[in-house]
Amino acid sequence: MTITKIGIIGSGAMGTGIAHILAQYGYRVILNDIDEKKVENSIRSIETILDSKIKRGKITEAEKVELTENISISSNLTDMKDTDLIIEAIIENLDAKTRVFSTLDKICNENVIFATNTSTMSITKIASGTKRPEKVVGLHFFNPAPVMKLVEIIRGYYTNDDVVSELKNLVRSIGKESIEVKKDSPGFVVNRLMLAQFREAFMVLEEGIATVDDIDKAMALGLNHPMGPFELMDYTGNDIAYDTLEYMYKEMGQPNWAPPAILKRVVNSGRIGKKAGKGWYDYCKGDNDL
Ligand SMILES: NC(=O)c1ccc[n+]([C@@H]2O[C@H](COP(=O)([O-])OP(=O)(O)OC[C@H]3O[C@@H](n4cnc5c(N)ncnc54)[C@H](O)[C@@H]3O)[C@@H](O)[C@H]2O)c1
Repeated sequence: MTITKIGIIGSGAMGTGIAHILAQYGYRVILNDIDEKKVENSIRSIETILDSKIKRGKITEAEKVELTENISISSNLTDMKDTDLIIEAIIENLDAKTRVFSTLDKICNENVIFATNTSTMSITKIASGTKRPEKVVGLHFFNPAPVMKLVEIIRGYYTNDDVVSELKNLVRSIGKESIEVKKDSPGFVVNRLMLAQFREAFMVLEEGIATVDDIDKAMALGLNHPMGPFELMDYTGNDIAYDTLEYMYKEMGQPNWAPPAILKRVVNSGRIGKKAGKGWYDYCKGDNDL
């Protein structure tokens, strides 16, 4: 099967970035959202990035036109009927994701691959809303999708080998690297390891071993991480860190995954990270584009 036309469901941070990188490499993308304004904003934000690249001499006006012409917008799932691949990037909610795929199952022909960009959730459960569980797979991009090199390809219980190899080719074709996650396990590889680091960072903080700044400094300068765990949480959202840990706790059934009280206090106080201007650190206005 040749993948040329790709439907993306959800035009938030991830759907926008995924649409951008796929269109850049010549795929025809249909970008969908239940909220029409979100899709329009999404196109505007891609254009802003491209305009800035033109100014810096990184791309030409013609390349911008070519890329943007590869993206069409949609607010109706029936527009997905002629696609070869769906990438779902809606909110991290199992019922919502299952419902979207169940609807698409009736719209798209049986050969269409259904991929989900979930960060942690069970691919097998998401597939249960369809009659094609062997065609359902995790395709986990990282934020910002046009920049981050890795994509995790996650097998659900029933995912076919052919589907995994098709997606490995797709990832290669857009200049990225993939890893295969062989079992459908919460958090897959990257988020499981990242959250384990967060958990330990909370303990180091609560035991009074080091401050937030020094823990971040330790990981940045001692292990060459681009940023430490608290800065990373502020970037991706402390509310998301909280929800993800809670999900891991529920799924893994081990108390060490439970979100700690200190994180709950930070979230309850509204210090959810850069998007709120405050998290573990305070941010100035306009300081939001890491
Ligand atoms: N943000 C990240 O750093 C990141 C990284 C990797 C993976 N993810 C995962 O990617 C997915 C999307 O995350 P995001 O940060 O882009 O979220 P977001 O909140 O920025 O965007 C979600 C979009 O989905 C839309 N939506 C909600 N329900 C819909 C439906 N039924 N049909 C169509 N559109 C619908 C919303 O209107 C919104 O525009 C989540 O599963 C998340 O866990 C996020």
